[in-house]
Amino acid sequence: MRGAKSEEAAKRRIDELVREIRRHDHLYHSLDQPEISDDEYDRLFRELKALEAAHPEARHADSPTQKVGARASELFAPVRHSSRLLSLDNVFDDASLDDWFDRVRRGLGREPTLVCEPKIDGLSLAVVYEHGRLSRGATRGDGEVGEDVTQNVLTLRSLPHRLRTTSPPAWLEVRGEVFLFKRDFRELNERLDEAGKPTFANPRNAAAGALRQKDANITRERPLDIYLHGLVKADGLGFKTYSEALAGLAELGLPVHPRAKRAQTLDEAKAFVRQIQAERHDLDHEIDGVVIKVDDLGAQQELGATAKAPRWAVAFKLPSEQRTTTLRDIMVSIGRTGAATPFAMLEPVFVGGVTVSTATLHNEHEVARKDLRIGDTVIVQRAGDVIPEVVGPVLERRTGHEHVFVMPDDCPVCGARLERHEDDAVRRCPNLSCPAQTLGSIFHFCSRGAMNIEHLGEVRAQQLLDRKLIEDAGDIFHLTAAALATLPQFKEKSIDNLLKAIDGARDRPLDKLLVGLGVRHVGPSAAQALARHFGSLDKIAEASLDELASVEGLGDVIAEAVHVYFRRESSERLIDKLRRGGVKLDVVAKRSGGPLTGKTFVITGTLSSMSREKAQERLEALGGKVTSSVSKSTSYVVVGAEPGSKLEKAQKAGVAILDEAGFLELVGGNE
Ligand code: IVH
Repeated sequence: MRGAKSEEAAKRRIDELVREIRRHDHLYHSLDQPEISDDEYDRLFRELKALEAAHPEARHADSPTQKVGARASELFAPVRHSSRLLSLDNVFDDASLDDWFDRVRRGLGREPTLVCEPKIDGLSLAVVYEHGRLSRGATRGDGEVGEDVTQNVLTLRSLPHRLRTTSPPAWLEVRGEVFLFKRDFRELNERLDEAGKPTFANPRNAAAGALRQKDANITRERPLDIYLHGLVKADGLGFKTYSEALAGLAELGLPVHPRAKRAQTLDEAKAFVRQIQAERHDLDHEIDGVVIKVDDLGAQQELGATAKAPRWAVAFKLPSEQRTTTLRDIMVSIGRTGAATPFAMLEPVFVGGVTVSTATLHNEHEVARKDLRIGDTVIVQRAGDVIPEVVGPVLERRTGHEHVFVMPDDCPVCGARLERHEDDAVRRCPNLSCPAQTLGSIFHFCSRGAMNIEHLGEVRAQQLLDRKLIEDAGDIFHLTAAALATLPQFKEKSIDNLLKAIDGARDRPLDKLLVGLGVRHVGPSAAQALARHFGSLDKIAEASLDELASVEGLGDVIAEAVHVYFRRESSERLIDKLRRGGVKLDVVAKRSGGPLTGKTFVITGTLSSMSREKAQERLEALGGKVTSSVSKSTSYVVVGAEPGSKLEKAQKAGVAILDEAGFLELVGGNE
């Protein structure tokens, strides 16, 4: 018999776990700010499930084990899902997978065929196509009611706005997982970093933030992708199995996972799990396991679901690879924008396929939140195998000799007092000529997204600075072979290569130059908007704040930053050096050569997805020409709501007409 005391303890622990899990659900689903790893969450969840099984009388009626996720937030219009978006039961080893398979076999009275798919670490999305048109995208929310994020879903490159068929089903409802490819995630973080904005810790956080943006323009800047993994309703398509459905969806132009595979036996499914586990680090997106599903859709129906998860599917979770090592020190680096970022110096450790010896700690609050102390034994993981992350300290290994990290008051490079502005999460070095900022700026100026000067990496740039051969990026264009010959191990051939690369950069387009200057908040799209609007660096430098703010797609914050930048003496000096160094300051990239070159468009009526100016811009960016009146040479008339007489004229002249969906398809979505 169990003692009353142990019953008491179990009940207390259950209460505690319910509270904790609820808090983490909220952090994860509503705030996109998880505090613990998925593995830790799974551990809490499993503990609660085990305790509830042993002490059913202590189970809360509304326990998280009986529900899916958290409630939808108030930001978006609510959407009631036609059927609940369920979660999946997890298994962590072969024995539990065997148990699942036994239950399925017993439930059906026969051996089922299976389908295995990588389990993507992203966000679930419910998508509806009505008569072949993408009509709705909704997040999962609490499983019953989600959020209407259709505008954002329309920016997903891989999801067609129209199905590729002449006889679409009246209603097609599918579900899938929204995520970022690792490569896109890296590029996104680079862009954010270049614009002096905070970066994301992992692709999932980036995707979550993007999908629930109120401003679809921000979603557009985050290249989201999706793979579909569920079929809810497919009027008249007559799929009998999931594998048939996957092939059918692919034929309609919908994205399904290329690695999805049928398994005739459980052993084949296990082999698939092993295979994916081995290749995990080489996949182009993050996964946290493999989903194993019963293939026959009739059998799925027969098996049904519990309150939380279907009985016909299970997730084989792969643990994130974690290792422990020693946190030798916490140092602070100063970036190009002066941002002071603490980072961990680690005893080198092999994890997730690479040796890790440093890891960013993002900001001082993160260090405090994780309670990291110098000297700690820490757990390191490569979150989704992208960025090495210090998960936290191993408290049991504390000896008392560790010490607490204190953010320095002064810049570790130039000694200036670090400053923090109200609207800024980080402290920055205010000294614009701080060597760390100078080096960062020069490195950025030469980077691929900017002036693309090869053969001038961080080491060379540092040597040039040390020898006072350059002070800023403008001096690069005044370097001579004689000056470069003074660098160590820099032979004739290397000198020649570098000088050629520098010469090639003299006529880079204005937008690349603007990105290179590193004006705060100015990323590639703002730079393009500025270049197109003004046509030369001098005109941008002279522009008033009002003129800058009136540029389409710019906004007040960027306008202000640009205005401030060009009024600095150091900027004037730099631009003068560029001019004298033969750098062209007015090369605006031509828009010809796009897929719509030679096509002429007329736009009439109101488009719901973007302004007419924006539509024109999109067409022109692809090489098309936009005119105001319909003639014989018009290729297409784009027709929005309440079109004018141009529609009639087009119909009479027999000019092809594009509705809004067709237009979006042509320009590649509502970017
Ligand atoms: S099937 C009834 N397949 O994992 C739920 N889910 O942890 C059927 N997920 O909510 C889902 N990759 O959002 C399925 N290949 C895949 C998946 C997948 C990721 C997500 C899905 C689900 C969550 C459960």
